[in-house]
Amino acid sequence: MTTQTTSSELLKKVQSNFIGLDTVYTIADGRKTKRIYLDSTASTLMMGAAHDILESFLDHYANSHSKLHFSAKISTQVYDWAHEKILSFLKADPEIYTCFFTGSGATAGLNRIARVFRDFRPDKDVAFVSLMEHHSNDLPHRKHAGEVVHIPLDSHTGNQPGCLNLEALEEKLIEYQDRINYVAVTGVSNVTGIINPVNDIAKLAHQYGALILIDGAQMAAHLPIQLSGHDDPDCNVDAFVFSGHKTYVPGSPGVVVCRQDILKAIEPEEVGGGMVDDVFVDRYIVKDYFPDREEAGTPNIPGAIALATALEVLERIGMDYVLEDETILIENALERMQQIPDVVIYGETDCNICPRAGSISFNIKGMHHGLTAAILNDYFNIAVRNECFCAHPYVKEMILDDMLLASESMTDEELENDYKLIAGMVRASFGLYNTSNDVDALIDALKEIVSRKDELTQNYHVDESPDYVHNTFKMDVNNRFSVPEFVDQYMAK
Ligand SMILES: Cc1ncc(COP(=O)(O)O)c(C=O)c1O
Repeated sequence: MTTQTTSSELLKKVQSNFIGLDTVYTIADGRKTKRIYLDSTASTLMMGAAHDILESFLDHYANSHSKLHFSAKISTQVYDWAHEKILSFLKADPEIYTCFFTGSGATAGLNRIARVFRDFRPDKDVAFVSLMEHHSNDLPHRKHAGEVVHIPLDSHTGNQPGCLNLEALEEKLIEYQDRINYVAVTGVSNVTGIINPVNDIAKLAHQYGALILIDGAQMAAHLPIQLSGHDDPDCNVDAFVFSGHKTYVPGSPGVVVCRQDILKAIEPEEVGGGMVDDVFVDRYIVKDYFPDREEAGTPNIPGAIALATALEVLERIGMDYVLEDETILIENALERMQQIPDVVIYGETDCNICPRAGSISFNIKGMHHGLTAAILNDYFNIAVRNECFCAHPYVKEMILDDMLLASESMTDEELENDYKLIAGMVRASFGLYNTSNDVDALIDALKEIVSRKDELTQNYHVDESPDYVHNTFKMDVNNRFSVPEFVDQYMAK
C-alpha cells in the first residue's frame, strides 16, 4: 500500500467520524434536512477520536502533578504526553521550545506573548502586525507593546489584495531597526484563508533583529507547520499560538509554544499554585523547569489530552495530505463561485499566486451579507458566518479595494458611503469533514439565491438587533435544545 493510499483511506475514515455531521434541522419550507457546516473558521466540529478519548480518559481523571495514586499517575503522564505531542506536531525542538496551555483559545496566548516579549526586551518599544490580523493578534500588541506599526497588504496581480507585503515589511524593518521588538503575523487569514509564508517572514524579521510571533489559530488544523530545524535558523519561529476549538476539539485550552530561553529570562507572566518550588511569606521560588513554571493553577487536563489526540490523528493522516485534499476542495469552490453572476469573492482567487486554506469570504451584489447568510441558513441549512470576523481593518480594505476596482472614478466620500451599506462579508469555511457534496450544496444554493433574489428578499425584515429575520419562519431554540429539560429528564430516570 502506498503512503498516498494510506493517507487517503485514513482521511476518509476520520472524515466521516465527527460529532454533529448528522444534525438535522427543519428549514423554512418545512423540510427536515441535514445541516451543512461551513463555519469551521469560527469553531470546528469535534473529531470523533477526541470525543472518544475523553470518555475513556475520564474513568481515570484526577488532578495532574502527582504520581502517588494510580489515577494521578495516569493523568500526569498523559498530560505530559499532550505537551510532547504538540511540540512534535509543530516540529518544534523540545530542547529549544516549551509548550503550555492557556485560556480558552488563542487570544489568551497572544496576550501572554505580547507581555512576554515586552518584558524580555523592554528597550525595544515597537511591534509590527499586518493589516490581515484578527483583532486578537492586533489589540494585545496595541495594549502591551509601546507602539504598533501596521504592515500593508500585497495585491500581487494588481487586483484584490492578498497576503502580507514582504517588501513593505522589509522597508519598515529597516526604518525601525533600532526599536523593533517583534513581528506578529497570522499564518492563515481568518477572512480570505490566504496563507502567509511564515518561515520567510521569520527570516526577514530575524535579519533585522526582530522576534517573530505567529498566530496559528487558522493554521494548525489545515497545513504542515515547522517551527524549528530549518537549514537557515533564521527561518525558525520564536513563538506560536493556536486554538483547540479551531483544531477539532471544542473545550480545549489555547496553546502557546515559545522558545524556552525567552521565558527563562523573565518571571512567568502568571503566578499561583503549581509553578513554584517553595513559598515563604516574604518571597517565592519559581520552578526552573517547563512547562510547569508557565502553567499556574489547575490545567484543563481533559481538553489538553483531547487536543493532543486530534493532533495525533492528523499527524497519522499526514498534514501534507490534509492540505492537498483541502486545496482541491477550496479550488473547486473558488472556481465555481466565480462563475456565478453577482458573486464577489474577496482576496486573490488564484491559489497558485496566493494559496488558501479554510476560508472563502464573499458577497452577492445588491444583497446585504446578513441577508445572504440568513437565507443560506433558513432555506438551505448551510451554516456560514457573516459581518467582519473580528478583522475590521482587513475586511474594510478588501471591500474598498473591490469597490475601487469596480468603479475607479469614485470619490473617497462615495466609497465610504457605499462601504457603510456593505460593511461585511459572508464567509464559507471548511474543515476535514467537508466534502465536494458540501461545495455542490453551496454552489446550488448561491445560484438559487441569485436567481430568486427579489422573491427571497421579500420574505425578510430587519429586527431591532439589527438582524435579518424571516417574516414567518422561526426556529424555537428552547424547543430544540434546553438544558433544564435535559436535567428534568435526567432526574426522572
Ligand atoms: C486568525 C485568528 N487569530 C486569533 C483568533 C482568536 O482565537 P480564539 O477565539 O481561539 O481566542 C481567531 C479566531 O477566530 C482567528 O481566526
